[in-house]
Amino acid sequence: IEETGSDVADFAAKYVRKRINEFGAGPDKYFVLGLPTGSTPLGMYKRLIEFYKAGTVSFRYVITFNMDEYVGLPRDHPESYHSFMFNNFFRHIDIEPKNVHILNGMTNDAKKECENYERMIKEAGGIELFVGGIGPDGHVAFNEPGSSLSSRTRIKTLNADTIQANARFFGGDLSQVPTQALTVGVQTVMDAREVMILITGTHKALALHMAIECGVNHMWTVSAFQYHPLAMFVADEDATLEL
Ligand code: GLP
Repeated sequence: IEETGSDVADFAAKYVRKRINEFGAGPDKYFVLGLPTGSTPLGMYKRLIEFYKAGTVSFRYVITFNMDEYVGLPRDHPESYHSFMFNNFFRHIDIEPKNVHILNGMTNDAKKECENYERMIKEAGGIELFVGGIGPDGHVAFNEPGSSLSSRTRIKTLNADTIQANARFFGGDLSQVPTQALTVGVQTVMDAREVMILITGTHKALALHMAIECGVNHMWTVSAFQYHPLAMFVADEDATLEL
């Protein structure tokens, strides 16, 4: 538990830096990192860029896999997760574009795209550290309430609450928010060797309570990480209101 959202960002960025540096990444040994979008991880990305500029971390030997992408938004749409990641992070660090993986929401074969994604994760040696955020309803990536806890990368229809929550990025216009997304499954994240979930704000307090103090439940998909051998929740004081 950290005091503020900015302390959460600072902790998370320092943790990612420590894991990459201790791993000893190099040309024969890439660090495979899972990454989220959303407003919560923005501060972590800002800090990591600062660390990169200060020379205390390099992403030269890092491979990334993002959690999800909207269906039907072209890559260069300002609200695509592709744009989000390049504008807020990748453009500012030394990662090689070929090592960045983000699901293609414009594919006309979602099943194949998702199977390929799982295959690429496997071929990269699996994910070392998966960083995630959650929705107020406890969804992780776009694994909405009711998702199978053994799910893998697939297409999901977004529920009304998520569309409502994300409308702020589309000028508040619900009709502009995509209704489907491609997303890693709960099991895809579970397979990572380590999971770090960032949670800030009173609007996520119920989700944090359901995630760690109640039973594992597919209606609060983030609760699945109770079964993970190495999972960490990093919360600000506000998010702990219901604990
Ligand atoms: C979306 C994303 C999730 C993210 C969630 C919370 O639903 N698919 O990966 O965790 O938003 O976003 P925020 O951090 O802006 O609250």
